[in-house]
Amino acid sequence: MTTHKKITLLLFLSFFVLINGQDIFISNVQNRKAASLNGKWKYVLDPYSTGQIGFMPIYKNVIPKDKSDRVEYSFEKAQTLWIPGSWNFQKPELQYFEGSIWFQKVFNKIDPSKNKRYFVYVGAANYLSTVTLNGEILGKHEGGFTPFCFEVTRLLKEKDNSLIIGVNNSRESNSIPAKVTDWFNHGGITRDVLLIEEPETFISNYFLSLDKTSLNLESKRIEGKLQLSGTTFPPKARILIPELKVNYEITIENDGCSTFSIDVKNIELWSPENPKLYNVTLEAGNDTINDLIGFRTIETKEKQILLNGKPVFLKGISLHDENPVRKDRANSVDDAKLVLGWAKELGCNFVRLAHYPHQENIVRLADKLGIMLWEELPLYWGINWDDPEVLNKAKKQFTELINRDFNRASSIIWSIANETAPNDARNAFLTSIAEHIKSIDQTRLLTAACKKDQAVDGHPDDEYTINDPIMQHLDIISFNEYLGWYGGLPSECRKKTFRSKIDKPIIVSEFGGGALQGFYADSLTRWSEDYQEYLYRENIAMFDKIDGLAGMTPWILADFMSPLRQLPDVQDGWNRKGLISERGIKKKAFFVLQKYYMTK
Ligand code: GCU
Repeated sequence: MTTHKKITLLLFLSFFVLINGQDIFISNVQNRKAASLNGKWKYVLDPYSTGQIGFMPIYKNVIPKDKSDRVEYSFEKAQTLWIPGSWNFQKPELQYFEGSIWFQKVFNKIDPSKNKRYFVYVGAANYLSTVTLNGEILGKHEGGFTPFCFEVTRLLKEKDNSLIIGVNNSRESNSIPAKVTDWFNHGGITRDVLLIEEPETFISNYFLSLDKTSLNLESKRIEGKLQLSGTTFPPKARILIPELKVNYEITIENDGCSTFSIDVKNIELWSPENPKLYNVTLEAGNDTINDLIGFRTIETKEKQILLNGKPVFLKGISLHDENPVRKDRANSVDDAKLVLGWAKELGCNFVRLAHYPHQENIVRLADKLGIMLWEELPLYWGINWDDPEVLNKAKKQFTELINRDFNRASSIIWSIANETAPNDARNAFLTSIAEHIKSIDQTRLLTAACKKDQAVDGHPDDEYTINDPIMQHLDIISFNEYLGWYGGLPSECRKKTFRSKIDKPIIVSEFGGGALQGFYADSLTRWSEDYQEYLYRENIAMFDKIDGLAGMTPWILADFMSPLRQLPDVQDGWNRKGLISERGIKKKAFFVLQKYYMTK
């Protein structure tokens, strides 16, 4: 059999084995017994991503038997990189590296107790990961921004466990996102890696929410779903919410699942003004897990968004999942505190976590600070809508995001696309995604960010009507608009008007313009802070007139890295539409938006 045929067969066999890998979703990992595997990991470069096949299966970590033995890689002599962290800015030679890097961490069992199960958990790795332990492939995960884990119980040794994870950040036309984005393709293991220890039967996931039909009743209703993992299940579980005097027995079905509802009195609903979180404890068999959960409802009524039945205006800002000061993906509580602190200072009660799922720390911190969130998957620009595999990937990644954030009161909106041109394939794809999300989660609103010149009829004389066909399947109409930046000058904006063909709330999900912090000139000089300041003033005046305007998330809180932005001495690899520079300095436009939000 030729080498080529051997490689093809190996690829097929490895893929077949992998799609049957035992992966499971474990939520709320911050409150489970786990050992952090963060720190310095050894790495081996694999630019052409051949590390899993052919003449150098890197994950087997073969050590030469003698001086004649041929092995063409070595973790023993390898250098190290910090995990979590993208590889791009840890070594100059890795800044624009796209391909695979294989990381190795050697660790001992947390404590050699019996009757336990162990899982390797990864908060996110961009883009395609292959997880192996002690020379055996556990499985693959595709998607750069959602968590995944694999059970390692049967492979774990007392000492010297070799965890090797291959990460491939190559951009592909059938990926999510596809090949071209206006953000930096940070590669690597970008969030925490944990070794989680669980009892043989444990609570892997649960959904708790306020039943919106009970909102106006004296006794509200909490709806719950519980999922146990194991081979045998206890007949009962228990939920305790001491502040609500809840101590409720749950019946477990044969499949380890349960749905239940609990009547509660005197519950304080979560809101930006009162971000009330309750201590919730779930017990099943030998497992106990605690969480902090807020309860609220979010709905629409004609052109209004209702939080707990009351109209709310979403004073927002868009944000990438990047700490611009550290030039890395955001991956810590401190990173979350930095950017949400800026948003609070701006006067925001809402943040658009663009264009992909952000780190879990920011969602949990938003719960505590009372900031509502828009979350989204990077179904962005040119997605391969015709490929059923891409649709399956999108559904799987949305399921992972919902599994992770379902219990976060701050998360109120799922967005299913950004600036995607309407056509039959795209409309069918997104309709299927909307249906998929609604089948799992009816406690949030759906939207998509459309774009004027793709889905808005523009009359030459300044009247624009939004009529993207996907909006009929969504709860909120959102659109991105860059009048005064990508077309025309700010002075032309005030006379423009926008309306929608359907009676739903409207969010202006992007507007803005670039400015180099510290460059002062006048309102006609492109790239000056004065131009950006004037553009904000005129855009706000234009959008504030919209009938049914329920919120806005201007683009963007902070300058962010993008290979598309290479104007020397102005961009130098940065998108400059931020209201704050990468050195954390506020631009003049920041105060225009801040002043507007004080009036809302
Ligand atoms: C687009 C897109 C953003 C991009 C922005 C820009 O609307 O959604 O991802 O960064 O415009 O041009 O700066």
